[in-house]
Amino acid sequence: MNKEKLKEILHDLNTIGYYKINIVDLLGNEGIDSFNEISEFFDKMLSNPQINHRLETIQQGLNITGKDKYYEITHQEYLGRALGLKDGGLFNFYLNNFFVDLAKEFLGTEEPELYNALFFIHGKGLPERSGSQKWHRDLEGLKILKIFMYCTEVGPENGPLEYVPKSFCGGDFPINEGSKTMDDYQRLRILPTELEEQYCTPNSITFTGSPGDIIISNNTGFHRGGFIKEGFRCMTHALYVRPDAIYSPKDINYDENVNFVDINSQEYKDLGEKQKYLKILNPTNLRFSYGGINDSGGMRGGQISNKLTNSFEKLILNNQNINDKNKIVIILKDWASNLELLKHLKNNGNKIILDIIDWLDVDKYDSQNNINNPNFFPDLLKEYYDGYIVNNSKMKEWWYKNMDNDLKKPIFIIPHHWDERFANLSLAEYSKNPYFYYLGYRGHEDQNCFHVQKLLDGKLLYDDRSNNNGMPGNRYFQDRPVNGVQINIRKEGSWEYCFKPATKLSIAASMDSVIITTYDWSIQDILPKDYPYLLKSTDYEEIEKMFQYVKDTFEKEEWFKAQQMLKQVKEKTSLDEIIKLYLEIEKYFTNEKS
Ligand SMILES: [Fe+2]
Repeated sequence: MNKEKLKEILHDLNTIGYYKINIVDLLGNEGIDSFNEISEFFDKMLSNPQINHRLETIQQGLNITGKDKYYEITHQEYLGRALGLKDGGLFNFYLNNFFVDLAKEFLGTEEPELYNALFFIHGKGLPERSGSQKWHRDLEGLKILKIFMYCTEVGPENGPLEYVPKSFCGGDFPINEGSKTMDDYQRLRILPTELEEQYCTPNSITFTGSPGDIIISNNTGFHRGGFIKEGFRCMTHALYVRPDAIYSPKDINYDENVNFVDINSQEYKDLGEKQKYLKILNPTNLRFSYGGINDSGGMRGGQISNKLTNSFEKLILNNQNINDKNKIVIILKDWASNLELLKHLKNNGNKIILDIIDWLDVDKYDSQNNINNPNFFPDLLKEYYDGYIVNNSKMKEWWYKNMDNDLKKPIFIIPHHWDERFANLSLAEYSKNPYFYYLGYRGHEDQNCFHVQKLLDGKLLYDDRSNNNGMPGNRYFQDRPVNGVQINIRKEGSWEYCFKPATKLSIAASMDSVIITTYDWSIQDILPKDYPYLLKSTDYEEIEKMFQYVKDTFEKEEWFKAQQMLKQVKEKTSLDEIIKLYLEIEKYFTNEKS
């Protein structure tokens, strides 16, 4: 990397506010390749009949779009969608190491965010300046790095970019009112004051140039461009901002139709380290009734949102998106009976899916009679639901027979994924091998895991991680025990056995432990029948024997077989795998619409 060049550019950006250079002089062969790929995109765009027709209308001064910026045609109009990682190599170009390093240095952040990558063509239009043809400054932040690249010859007649040196935020511009108060740059004022206006034109610099010329600009400074008297102009630009910029891709109002990155695509995975510079989101139609980081709302709301959009909040219903139309809203158990919400969502044309998880009416629940799959579910507002999510296949059948037998409504099976935080815990050696521990929710009268207390008192279990210093709900997760053995004991046929997700199993798998477990419905789907440490009953003697069996087979065939099977559970219940099931829901309803 050319350190001297980087220094020189930084110096100019911080003093006069701009730098111009040809991309080949800056990036050599890499620059040539990128330029060619980008040019090819423009060639295709220009030979598209619709785009061609639009350009002709602009040249005649016709506004057939009804928009202010009618004289501009972007990739969106050509592609009919947002620009992605595959299109024209534009993201790759703007993610080259030199630009990224420059953005880091200039913006003073290790994680600059790249967005608003745009292919655009400007035509002749009307004889009066409008929009960005007038002096203005960009307002995304107090420091903005914008890189433009010309893809056609740009002379005085076809809309060269113009810039007023030193007029950027904090710059040494003689009448820079904004330099006195930074607030002035915070979205308050886009146009120059009258005094500034008088000062702009006589002091400005005009960038005429050749294809491949780039203009790097501190774009809080006054600039204008694209005012074309003859011909047209093809160019690209992209923006780099600090993560704390006023407008950033994380912004709720950010236009997802300009750029999108499918974070589950191969191209995204191939970016490796550079993924972090792209906070541009995958425009999914999924929404969730509530989120968070922990518990079921966090697991099946927040974490799914984060996986799809890099934000725990983005897909969770809130004041900004509650009136969105035609989405697929997943209602998590606790909100299942919120009639007002369901009505509102239905009126807006949303599909409503109930994720049952372990939904329960505490008033109906009776632990004495909690056998043979009794119906502890609350009354279901089934006329509002377009489908359901259950956590295992037997539950799917049960739900259809007992709760809603409308065959038109899909029932999706989505097991619980494991929380990535567990897999990242550090490994800890304990003096006992194997190391028996308990981690989880015991349930009412320990129905969600029998005998925990007795096993602890009898010193069969070495460690109870279900609470922290006696604080229920505050489970502690300080490490992953080497040779750990988790336990899960539910009474056959009980409500817990049938409907509770296999959380203890997936967490044990994520921590590279094995598990002693009953064969609950949710476990039957993901753990083979010949798993060595399956309990046949919940009798205490049987459990004692199983503990002994695990000790006897430690580091023998059965132990390794159990480890191997848990490894497969870890893969099957990772968020990477489970997210595919959520995308299937989206596909199902999208295909249904078209
Ligand atoms: Fe601008």
